[in-house]
Amino acid sequence: MYTEVKHPLMLHKLSILRNTGTESSAFRELVRGITYMLAYEALKDVDTIPVDVQTPLETAHCRRIQSRLTVVPILRAGVGMLEAFLDLVPDAAVGFFGVYRDHDTAKPVEYYSKIPKPEAGSTAVIIDPMLATAGSSSAAVSALKRSGYDKIKILCIVSCPEGLGRMEQDHPDVQIYTAAVDRALNAHKYILPGLGDAGDRLFNTLD
Ligand code: PRP
Ligand code: URA
Repeated sequence: MYTEVKHPLMLHKLSILRNTGTESSAFRELVRGITYMLAYEALKDVDTIPVDVQTPLETAHCRRIQSRLTVVPILRAGVGMLEAFLDLVPDAAVGFFGVYRDHDTAKPVEYYSKIPKPEAGSTAVIIDPMLATAGSSSAAVSALKRSGYDKIKILCIVSCPEGLGRMEQDHPDVQIYTAAVDRALNAHKYILPGLGDAGDRLFNTLD
């Protein structure tokens, strides 16, 4: 189940993000702006509860988010989306999931997991700019489910039909919000046209 967020501002930012000439500092800033838009869309349906607030004039009948959200960046590149998410949801609990793709097989290799316990009814949001084979995201969802989460969303900037298909098979209950569904994977399992290696571009390690 996925939603492609195609706001004109998103399309504009993506066009600069993809450009191979865009440097890391600008890349990070664009990832921040895109994350705001993905998060706005993804959090549209989180549960809220009524709360009465005293204004200087009278009582206002307001609503607050019911349960603390959990956000889980997939290391490394997901960290590039974390600050923007926390700008919007400052009291979110933060977990971390470390996984990298083996260079030869592109299969996920898990190396770190620190996931906070869910509050009753709470939603977990996985953040990672890229959904390619979906091996990394699928492993992160499995880890969250083992920790007790049953409402899970994924924010990814660029995805592709192969990865979305795999997620639909592995975790059909998870909602994915993406800025672009690209054409396909190449022989090395990189997304085409994509934007290259998101972690290297974010952290300026393109050596
Ligand atoms: C990238 C990206 C995703 C993963 C996507 O991470 O940030 O986590 O690849 O590919 P997949 O859908 O085929 O699993 P990478 O493995 O390059 O690790 P890094 O962020 O530590 O560089
Ligand atoms: N990881 C990336 O960073 N880019 C891709 O195209 C695929 C996986």
